[in-house]
Amino acid sequence: MSDVARSYDEVPYEGKPLYATHPDCLAAAARLRCIPAADPAQCRVLELGCGTGGNLIPMAYTLPESQFLGIDLSPRQIAWGQSIVQQAGLRNIELKVASILDVDRNWGRFDYIICHGVFSWVPRPVQDHILWICGNLLAPYGVAYISYNTYPGWHLRAVVRDLAQFYAARFDDPATKAQQVRAIVQFLARASASLDSPLSRYLAEEVPSLAEAADYYIYHEHLEDTNHPLYFYEFMTRARAAGLEYLGEAWHHSPLDSLPDEVRQTLVELSRDLVDLEQWMDFIHSRTFRRTLLCRAEVPVERTPPPDVLRPMYLTALARPQSPEVDVTTPQPERFVRDDGTGATTNVPLLKAALVALFQRWPAAVPFSELLESAMAQANIPRDQQAQAEAVLAALLVRSYTSHLVAIHTRPFPFVGEAGPLPCASRLARVLAKEQARVPNLRHHLVLLSPEQRQVLAVADGRHRREEIARAVAVAADQRGPPDVSAERAQALAPLSTQQVDEVLRQLARCALLEA
Ligand SMILES: C[S@@+](CC[C@H](N)C(=O)[O-])C[C@H]1O[C@@H](n2cnc3c(N)ncnc32)[C@H](O)[C@@H]1O
Repeated sequence: MSDVARSYDEVPYEGKPLYATHPDCLAAAARLRCIPAADPAQCRVLELGCGTGGNLIPMAYTLPESQFLGIDLSPRQIAWGQSIVQQAGLRNIELKVASILDVDRNWGRFDYIICHGVFSWVPRPVQDHILWICGNLLAPYGVAYISYNTYPGWHLRAVVRDLAQFYAARFDDPATKAQQVRAIVQFLARASASLDSPLSRYLAEEVPSLAEAADYYIYHEHLEDTNHPLYFYEFMTRARAAGLEYLGEAWHHSPLDSLPDEVRQTLVELSRDLVDLEQWMDFIHSRTFRRTLLCRAEVPVERTPPPDVLRPMYLTALARPQSPEVDVTTPQPERFVRDDGTGATTNVPLLKAALVALFQRWPAAVPFSELLESAMAQANIPRDQQAQAEAVLAALLVRSYTSHLVAIHTRPFPFVGEAGPLPCASRLARVLAKEQARVPNLRHHLVLLSPEQRQVLAVADGRHRREEIARAVAVAADQRGPPDVSAERAQALAPLSTQQVDEVLRQLARCALLEA
């Protein structure tokens, strides 16, 4: 067994759904640039270094007509994933132990190729083969997603990695190594705080994320032998040599709009092409990580999409209005804030009305045509100005997509907004909730379930009414006690009233966990 396989067998990497890698996200990115990427509902997907299948399995569950193949070197991770596939009864996914180096032309063509959290941690020949696979096995309008660590941000992060490796070498057990790394970074941040040097400020910034990070993450992020960050332009030079072209970023696009006009202008003048411009942005933002999308070099990429590009698309909100009452009829500036506290301000009534409507409809994906109609009505724009309003709103929403105020989708998500008389939770979530409190939802995100939500989800299988669910929860609690709760809490939990079950079902619907 290779050192890599042994390392991931010893400390498995907890896979999770990552929407940025989902065929819907990749298809939307391509279609926004006028590339007719395959329908996510009927496509073929390959994931390289899929770990436990934590990302690929929920995709296979929500896209039953598509085919998924995941490979990884670690037999233990693959065995775990295969057992979930079997328990969930999925027939459209195969997870197998194989090396990326084993993939050749006999594997056929793929509409989407995903390689997340792998490229920087593998040796050069494996990196080159990842690019070879994308260059040779992508379907004509296929999209490849490759994430990797970038300079210049990693020049600073490498100091944390160096000190982590220096100190962890004296411990044997991986869990102890990870805990000690967390402790030493906290200690050094405190010890150097009074110096107020660039490095002490950086260490202080790293402390909160390390405090929250799981042991497996610290172990593989900072203590693996191989970690090769690179500059974006270097990555693209190699991708172009493999017959690939830059499509864009899957997430965290370069926020050119956020720069002052004169800076933006100068950067554009200094740039020979988009790759140069993106590289300047990485220097400005000290970027540490990219999720780059690539297509075949011969595919024409439209960088200024026509106004009708959004017509077949759906949108969701990524930001909420800051003020409780947004004025959508005047040019009064309004701020929209993302979960991390950052945001953007707009004074355009039509865009304000659209962003408010998306926030009110969250977590649903709203068809563009419906959004246009609602925003025009709210902003008092007469119907005879529809063509003009459509062009303006489409252009503003595409900019809002690159500035992360909205996400754009090719299809609605397969969840229902309300529980029916026989509520049915995602079968995959039910399988996983037996062992864990974090489960994938039907929007391809991870959700942390409360003990009550976990109990109700376990019995909401589409065959029971609310009273029966309440009784089943009580019986389950009586027999084995609810998982992860203290005795007093268990007492308080069992049984749930029918009204409480109803409330929990509302919460599960809001978490996008209920299906028709
Ligand atoms: C950091 S983990 C990421 C796993 C998964 N993509 C995720 O994001 O959850 C890196 C994975 O790459 C796998 N890997 C490394 N080298 C590989 C190779 N040559 N062939 C196949 N898998 C490999 C490891 O076993 C490990 O599961």
